[in-house]
Amino acid sequence: MTDTPPQPDDLTPAQAASEHARLAVEVSEHNRLYYQDDAPRVSDAEYDALFRRLQDIEARFPELVTPESPTQQVGAEPTSGFAKVRHAVPMLSLANAFDDDDVIDFVARVRRFLNPPDDEPVVLVAEPKIDGLSVSLRYEYRTFVRGATRGDGAEGEDITANLRTIVDIPAELPEDAPDILEVRGEVFMPKSEFAALNARQAAADDKVFANPRNAAAGSLRQLDPSITASRTLRLFTYAWGEISEEPFGTHWSFLERLRGWGFPVNPLVQHCDGVEEALAAYNKIAEARPTLDYDIDGVVYKINRLGWQARLGFVSRAPRWAIAHKFPAEQATTVLQGIDIQVGRTGALTPVARLEPVTVGGVVVSNATLHNEDEIARKDVRAGDTVVVQRAGDVIPQVVEVVLDKRPKKAKRYKFPDHCPVCNSEAVRADSEAVRRCTGGLICPAQAVERLKHFVSRNAFDIEGLGAKHIVAFWEDGLIKEPADIFGLTSEVLAEREGWGEQSAANLVAAITDRQHIALDRFIYALGIRQVGQATARLLARTYTTLEAWRAAIAAAQDHESEAYQELIGIDGIGELVAADILSFLHEAHNQRVLDDLDAALDIVPFEQPASDSPIAGKTIVFTGTLDQMSRPEAKARAEALGAKVSGSVSKKTDLVVAGPGAGAKGRKAAELGVETIDEQTWLDLIGG
Ligand code: IVH
Repeated sequence: MTDTPPQPDDLTPAQAASEHARLAVEVSEHNRLYYQDDAPRVSDAEYDALFRRLQDIEARFPELVTPESPTQQVGAEPTSGFAKVRHAVPMLSLANAFDDDDVIDFVARVRRFLNPPDDEPVVLVAEPKIDGLSVSLRYEYRTFVRGATRGDGAEGEDITANLRTIVDIPAELPEDAPDILEVRGEVFMPKSEFAALNARQAAADDKVFANPRNAAAGSLRQLDPSITASRTLRLFTYAWGEISEEPFGTHWSFLERLRGWGFPVNPLVQHCDGVEEALAAYNKIAEARPTLDYDIDGVVYKINRLGWQARLGFVSRAPRWAIAHKFPAEQATTVLQGIDIQVGRTGALTPVARLEPVTVGGVVVSNATLHNEDEIARKDVRAGDTVVVQRAGDVIPQVVEVVLDKRPKKAKRYKFPDHCPVCNSEAVRADSEAVRRCTGGLICPAQAVERLKHFVSRNAFDIEGLGAKHIVAFWEDGLIKEPADIFGLTSEVLAEREGWGEQSAANLVAAITDRQHIALDRFIYALGIRQVGQATARLLARTYTTLEAWRAAIAAAQDHESEAYQELIGIDGIGELVAADILSFLHEAHNQRVLDDLDAALDIVPFEQPASDSPIAGKTIVFTGTLDQMSRPEAKARAEALGAKVSGSVSKKTDLVVAGPGAGAKGRKAAELGVETIDEQTWLDLIGG
């Protein structure tokens, strides 16, 4: 900064925004040092000058005022955010069903898994899916001690003080409640309160919220609980986390206990004897929807028997015993201004519709995906067309169709580019694929940037304060070209950048250092190999345990005749096509170098088998033939829960084959290789029934 900074009137909006961001961080930091650490680093006069400058800029550029700005904080509360809380039991998400058939399939899957007698009904509980924010409320010896947001499911934020202001949350529980109890539910803002709040905000020239869910989120994440208290938030509860006793045999009786302990349970929950009744419950809830004073976005069905829930367990982050049946998407009509092409990290060219902004289901939409070339051709979408767009839940808005009688006379058919709009390399389409891809590979800047964005994204390295915008800026300035460059960033270099101060630079470097220890599965996912999502990355980490072993195994597997190749494609969930993408990624010399550099910069934590003292922990197991007492999916899930790997084919690496009648070729191969083979009963004895 120069000695006499320009007057706010002389700043361009961009300069103002960047100085505002820098000042906000700086002032917040001084607040923290002063109020929290009792260790101010500047004199009161210096602090006042910074604060006044921030106020002056905000007076000239009111659009820069956000609730997070230090000027908006009452009593200069620490603005550094909330403490993190690790959930003792992870907070999960739900798989979705979009129509009746998906629900019928869900129940059929559950039946196949559990294999109950034919006359035994699958009882479900249907509950409205509340469109709010999930929270976890912890009670110790019947006193509310802590409340947290869901966060990434494993770790959330401590918002206890704000939750205490919600009247629906009991501070104390009756005597019959367990000693340790975590109750989970959804905090939401009633529609009536949302309208009133927005009216108040608008009158005060404050930010208005797009929908009740955002308003609830904004209100819960207030650093000043008195702001939360001034807004009406409500709660419905529907699940538990950690609990010291489990006195209920069914979900239905759990809901009754919740009510007894003083928690609000949604009055529309229904007990359903089978899938038909569940679908009838859905229709009933859908009918009630417009009359409710809160938003719901579907119906959640849960298997009623808790013993069955326990057997069904989880896949990735969602239970096998529940599903969310979403309401149909909301639609609106608007004008398509043009079609942009985005280039993804694997070179895929994705067309995006640029729209005249329109409100769909309470959210302003100005972009929508057009998926791919064929989709544009099929819908014959043209610039200038009036189109129907839809939005469902969290999914990306879509263009549904063109309103043909509103087509301008001169609208021209869209021609999909055959060159990359970013690097101008040829864009080609493989026979079997719907997408056209840029062939620029490593020379295409768009692909490089997208790979880096993926590398730091939430389910990958998740570096706090290093978002997509920073990646683009750092890349453009040559600070980061390869993933490993991130770990070479220094606070000196960052602090010199416009809009950055010493403190913000130090914070980012600390956040980066914090992520230098990373679990192998996250690491593999972060690489952005085509077709390797979180689940596949986990399978690879589980199978190979360390980065070194994985790289060695893939190097060996480049030979399709090798054992290593057989092992790779034998991993249940990885077929030849996914294997081909993994092999080609790791074959590439440049990628090998990227991996070497990362390996040198990071501490990659080997995959930890789930803690288990089971005799099958760490073993590779193959199931073959018919099992009588347990379905194949349940057998696989049980084996994995006990720390075993389940493979689809028998090799020298197989430790155990569980063979039922009709074992065939796999049984013979096991005998040939001398792999231990047991029958179903011995297997059940081994895993404890
Ligand atoms: S049960 C293990 N029940 O939906 C299952 N979730 O899309 C945990 N939600 O994260 C969820 N209403 O925030 C459940 N009646 C309900 C719900 C509900 C809303 C939310 C919840 C969850 C999300 C998953």
